[in-house]
Amino acid sequence: MAPDGPREAKDREYPWEVLAADAEALRGAMSHFPTGVTVVTSGREERAEGMTANAVISVSLDPLLFLVSVHKDARLNPRIRQEGYFAVNLLADDQEGLSRLFASPERSSGLQAIHSLGGGYGSTGAPLAAGALAVIECELAEIYAGGDHDLFLGRVVQVRLGDTRKGPLVFHEGAYPTLKPASRPEESGAFVDSVRGFDVRLNRLRDRRRR
Ligand SMILES: Cc1cc2nc3c(=O)[nH]c(=O)nc-3n(C[C@H](O)[C@H](O)[C@H](O)COP(=O)(O)O)c2cc1C
Repeated sequence: MAPDGPREAKDREYPWEVLAADAEALRGAMSHFPTGVTVVTSGREERAEGMTANAVISVSLDPLLFLVSVHKDARLNPRIRQEGYFAVNLLADDQEGLSRLFASPERSSGLQAIHSLGGGYGSTGAPLAAGALAVIECELAEIYAGGDHDLFLGRVVQVRLGDTRKGPLVFHEGAYPTLKPASRPEESGAFVDSVRGFDVRLNRLRDRRRR
């Protein structure tokens, strides 16, 4: 066996907790990865269905493609197949209730779901969540098998922006933490440092002129 290089030796020093590759380990590791939260919808009126999802990806810009991963047993799964479209409602930080509702197996479908979402329908016919930061509407392009989930790849046909002054709803370690507002550039260290540097250079210039 080749002797350990400096890199392998260094890796061994790091105190990893090595786990068996099982569902609990993967779920636990991913709980440390914060995500935004969406409600994915499809179907009109009695056929309306919505489900909270964070396994969503903006896949491609040319062409515009978007992907959502939906459990095979979820009520939304057959609905997207039948309707051939879906909308991804990107939730704002004041929509934790909507996220909890649409992650609950006891939630209603149909007109009651439309009522809870409160935003009418998009151009595809998919229900919209009033107050969402944005909505990505897609026509179904492909379905890929993904173990106990199906991956629905959609062609983006419409993008809507809501009140983007609100912050995003975030999911992290099984909870919905509040995001600290981003510091403004004038408060950031880099900016302050560069201003200080500028002041020092200006003072030096003045000193030289005085001499
Ligand atoms: C923050 C969050 C994100 C979720 N993301 C997904 C997801 O991407 N795909 C999925 O199939 N289920 C996801 N779920 C779980 C479903 O929302 C939940 O299991 C729902 O009840 C499934 O629909 P069903 O009741 O029709 O089975 C998520 C739940 C939460 C709370």
